[in-house]
Amino acid sequence: MEIKITKTTTPSVMPPEESLGFGKVFTDHMFIMDYNDKQGWHDARIVPFGKISLHPASTVLHYGAEIFEGLKAYRRADGGVQLFRPMENIKRMNRSAERMSLPLLEEKDALQILETFVRLEERFVPKSFGTSLYLRPYMFGNDESLGVHAVHNATFMLIASPSGSYYAEGINPVNIMIESEDVRTVRGGTGYAKCGGNYAASTRAGERAAKMGYSQVLWLDGVERKYIEEVGAMNVMFKIGDEIVTPELTGSILPGITRKSCIEVLKDLGYKVSERLLSVDELVSALESGELKEAWGCGTAAVVSPIGKLAYNDKEYVVGNGGIGEVTQKLYDILTGIQWGKIEDKFNWIHKL
Ligand code: PLP
Ligand code: COI
Repeated sequence: MEIKITKTTTPSVMPPEESLGFGKVFTDHMFIMDYNDKQGWHDARIVPFGKISLHPASTVLHYGAEIFEGLKAYRRADGGVQLFRPMENIKRMNRSAERMSLPLLEEKDALQILETFVRLEERFVPKSFGTSLYLRPYMFGNDESLGVHAVHNATFMLIASPSGSYYAEGINPVNIMIESEDVRTVRGGTGYAKCGGNYAASTRAGERAAKMGYSQVLWLDGVERKYIEEVGAMNVMFKIGDEIVTPELTGSILPGITRKSCIEVLKDLGYKVSERLLSVDELVSALESGELKEAWGCGTAAVVSPIGKLAYNDKEYVVGNGGIGEVTQKLYDILTGIQWGKIEDKFNWIHKL
C-alpha cells in the first residue's frame, strides 16, 4: 500500500516526560485514509496533525458508527522501539468493524500503517520506564445523508499521544465501585466491540463513582445484574483462595489483549486460571470471608492495576491488605518487563520496529 507523507513545517517540542499524563498531547502528524464501496480503502496519507472537517449529516455524528483501538509503542533499554501484539489489535478492530457494519481493514495494510506512522513519530516515544507512545487507530462512518443503514463511506485515522500512566495512582491500588444501576451492554449488543458508544453510555456511572472517590466502576451483566463483567477501561481478575478467576467472554465483555496475555503468563507460572461466571454474591462473600486475596484490572492503558477497595451497595471492602498483591506484582513485572524489553519475550509477543 502506498502512503503519501506530507511533513509538518512546524515541528513541536516533546514535553518533559514526567508531565505527560494520559492522552493529552499529540504527535506532529496523523494518518488518514478514506473508504467508499466503489474504490475500497484509498488515499492513504500522513499529514500534519490538525482539525478535520465533516459533513453536518456525517453518519458518525448522528448514529455513532465509530470504533477504535488502543496500543502502545514502547522504548526498549537499547533505544529501539517495539509494539506489543499489534496483530491482536488489528484483528479485534476488524471484529468491531464487522459488528458495526463498517468496512474491514486489510491486516497487512493496517500493520504497515502502524509501522510507518510510529517510525515517522519515533522521537515522540518517551524513554522512561512506564511511559509510552499511545496509539489510537479509529474508524467512523462518513456517509453524507441521514438514512440509517450500513455505511458506504468511512474514514480510518491514527493519532498518537506520548503518555504516562492512565490512573493518577500509577501502580498504586485503585478503588472501584460496583455499579448496580446503569449497565454497559448486554449479550447480543456491542460489548465485545470497541465502539465509542459503549464508552459514551458508561460515563454517567463513572462520574457518579468519581464523585464518591472511586476511580472507575465495575460493571455487572446487563440481563440479571448478577455477574461481574469488567471495569470501564480494563478487564478484571480475582485471586479467590488458590484460584484466579476472570469473567468469561460472554459477548458483552471486551476481549482484552492484556487479559489474554495475563492468562497465558499465569498459566505458564502454574496458576489455576478459570474463565467463568463470577456472581457479585460470590465476590462479596469472598471479600467477607477473606478468601479474596487479590484483585486487579488489566488493560493497555491501565497495564496491571491493583484494586485496593471495592464498594457495593453502600458498603466498602478492603481487598487483601489493601496493597499490591503478590500475583498482581508478578504479573506487572513480567508484562511490563516484556513490553519495555527488559526481560526475555518467551511468548513471542513483541513486534520490533
Ligand atoms: N475493557 C475495556 C472496556 C477497555 O476499554 C479496555 C481497554 O482497551 C480493556 C478492557 C482492556 O483491553 P486491552 O487489554 O486490549 O487494552
Ligand atoms: C486502552 O486501554 O487502550 C483503552 O482503550 C482504554 C481507554 C478507553 C482509555
